[in-house]
Amino acid sequence: MIDVIATAQQALDVDMNGATAVVIDVLRATSSMTCAIHNGARSIVAVNTPEEAFDFKAKSSSRVILGGERHADKISGFDLDNSPLSYSADVVRGNDIVMTTTNGTLAIGACRRADRLLISSFLNADNVINQLQSVSGDIYIVCAGTEGRFTIEDGLCAGYIVSKLVGDKSDFAISMQQVYLSSSEDIRLVASKGEHFERLKRKGYAFDLDVCFSDIRNYEALECVDGVIKKL
Ligand code: MLT
Repeated sequence: MIDVIATAQQALDVDMNGATAVVIDVLRATSSMTCAIHNGARSIVAVNTPEEAFDFKAKSSSRVILGGERHADKISGFDLDNSPLSYSADVVRGNDIVMTTTNGTLAIGACRRADRLLISSFLNADNVINQLQSVSGDIYIVCAGTEGRFTIEDGLCAGYIVSKLVGDKSDFAISMQQVYLSSSEDIRLVASKGEHFERLKRKGYAFDLDVCFSDIRNYEALECVDGVIKKL
C-alpha cells in the first residue's frame, strides 16, 4: 500500500515497522537538506531541539555546522538558518551539519522505526521515485506540515511522487495525486495560496520560494540511517 500521512504529528501514530518512509518538508527543511548534500556536505544529523544540536557540537571532535530555524528564523548561536541558499558549496562542502527545524526534523524523528527512511523535496523527487519503484512493501509518504496542520506544498510533492508509482494507493494518496495532477501546470501558483508559503513570503524569504519551486527534480536522493542523512 502507498499511503500519504498529512502531518509529522500523525506519523507518530503510524506503525512503520517493515515499511519505507519518505519525509517531505518542501518549505523548507528537506529542500535545504537536499541543497546541502548536493553542494557537497558530508552528512546531516537531524535533531529535535537546539539544545541537542549544541550538545552534539560540543561532543564532536571535528567541525560541525549548526543549521535550522525557529519561527522560520535563524536560531541564536547557530551558523546557518533554514534557507536552501545558505547551504552553498563554499559553506558546506566536506562538512557535517546538525539541523533542527520546527516540523521537518520532527517528521524525520517520527519515522525512525521505518525499515528505510528517505528524504525528499521537489528538488530530488525524481531520484527518490527511482528508489521507491523497486520497493515491494508499504510506503508511507510523510508530509511534515506546519505545527500540526497539513500544508499544500508538501501534499503537492507527495502527489507528484504518488503519481509516478504503481501499486495500491490509499484514498488520501489518490487525493494528493489528483491535487498534483490538476496543479502540475503551475505548482508554485497553487502552493502560493498556502499559509506557510504566504508566511515565508511575508517574512522576506521570497528567494527561498524560488529555489524550492524551481524546475530541478534530479538532485541526489537522500537516506537517513540511524539519524544521519547522506546521499544514496
Ligand atoms: C520546518 O521544518 O518547520 C520548516 O522548514 C520551517 C521553515 O520553513 O523554516
